Amino acid sequence: MRMHVHRYERWWMTFGFSMLVLFLCIIFFAAFADNMNPPSGLQQIDPTRVAQTPPFDHPGLRRLSDGKYEVYYVAQIFSFNPQTVTIPAGSTVTFYATSPDVVHGFSIVDTDVNMMVIPGWVNAASHTFRRPGTYLLLCNEYCGIGHANMAAKIEVQ
Ligand code: CUA
Repeated sequence: MRMHVHRYERWWMTFGFSMLVLFLCIIFFAAFADNMNPPSGLQQIDPTRVAQTPPFDHPGLRRLSDGKYEVYYVAQIFSFNPQTVTIPAGSTVTFYATSPDVVHGFSIVDTDVNMMVIPGWVNAASHTFRRPGTYLLLCNEYCGIGHANMAAKIEVQ
């Protein structure tokens, strides 16, 4: 027995299915052809030993060369360490972050740096700070009662 499907219903199903296929194509294109992937945690770390594991035993700013820096952050309830870093305008900074407790966010306002900080993993993202100013680093994953106060600053001079 053939089920009767109304013509409009069939059009609508075709439309819905086409959209699904289109969106999947866009996602696959972005991921593979455009290489647009979330910042990946390629490096693992023992979350119970973050305070003893270099370089996270001394979180903070490292100068690599002129205009090139890296910063190691420990994100934990409810703060970032370091609280403030100061860099010259035009610098390219690579941020490395890990967490000894729960999942945190690592989002720098007015930049494209936005990653998750997951216990057991080191996540990384880079940004070139062309404009001087104070950039706010925020936790954007709800991590507990003090989540709203979890922030730090990046001073670009
Ligand atoms: Cu850490 Cu929200």
